[in-house]
Amino acid sequence: MNNRRIKIAVQKSGRLTENSLDLLARCGLRYSRSRERLFCYGENMPVDIMLVRDDDIPHLVRDGICELGIVGRNVIDEKATAADLDKVIALDYGHCRLCLAAPEDHAYDTPAALNGQRIATSYPVITRNWLTANDISAEIVEFSGAVEIAPRLGKADLICDLVSSGGTLAANHLRELSTILNSEAWLVAAPATQLDDFGREWVERLSQRVRGVQQVNGSKYIMLHAPRVKLAEITDLLPGSETPTVMPLDGRDDKVAVHAVCRETVFWETLESLKQAGASSMLVLPLEKMLA
Ligand code: PRP
Ligand code: ZN
Repeated sequence: MNNRRIKIAVQKSGRLTENSLDLLARCGLRYSRSRERLFCYGENMPVDIMLVRDDDIPHLVRDGICELGIVGRNVIDEKATAADLDKVIALDYGHCRLCLAAPEDHAYDTPAALNGQRIATSYPVITRNWLTANDISAEIVEFSGAVEIAPRLGKADLICDLVSSGGTLAANHLRELSTILNSEAWLVAAPATQLDDFGREWVERLSQRVRGVQQVNGSKYIMLHAPRVKLAEITDLLPGSETPTVMPLDGRDDKVAVHAVCRETVFWETLESLKQAGASSMLVLPLEKMLA
């Protein structure tokens, strides 16, 4: 039992790789990369990282080869069903969208204009579901890559592909028509019923750490001095803070020290309003770890 380990599947090179490895490092995982870089051995936890093609991640997790995975919503919806995977946490990076796009001169007003057209995509499942839901009958032409050149090759009238900056569409003289899916990276796990106790325990522990990292990302610790008579007004101005800690200041009856975790961005404007309300000696500090 003591050589049992957990595996996390991560995209080996692509839009999610760097952020995903960085997230795992911030969860406290120290790992060494092997020569071929497909396997990272976790040095301080029984947790290893497998670097794989993103398209393979949903099946690796569903089939229990990896307990966890980090993968885009687009790949999840294309490759897995809701029963296959537990979508644990939306990670707020790797944002992109799956869009219908057409050559700039293609006439398009409503989705009904798609009837009878040929759509090239490497997302046949999502595209098919969207067409069905919108009552459109169009032909899907499956491409495994370079979808954006399909219209120029005469293989399709439109494409349905991922767009992030929009650079690829522009370079190929394609116009975005409508978004059919908004995507971001997700932490996914095998359904709890398929995991043993060890697997469940680590999935739970790592999920909690990921939540901790996310909370810290958007949070700051703020310290200030406030006139007693202005205390309520000042604490109301603290963005996204729960009950702040209020402490006496040595030798001062008119002022108190206020410490609070702010779960929203603390802007310069926020500090300026606090100052106007009478706050002084303000300090805003980054947070490193948080556990509720
Ligand atoms: C997608 C898509 C485009 C590009 C769009 O491919 O197929 O080529 O990104 O990005 P842009 O709007 O910023 O130009 P991706 O790199 O995700 O490849 P993958 O589908 O194989 O992961
Ligand atoms: Zn891919």
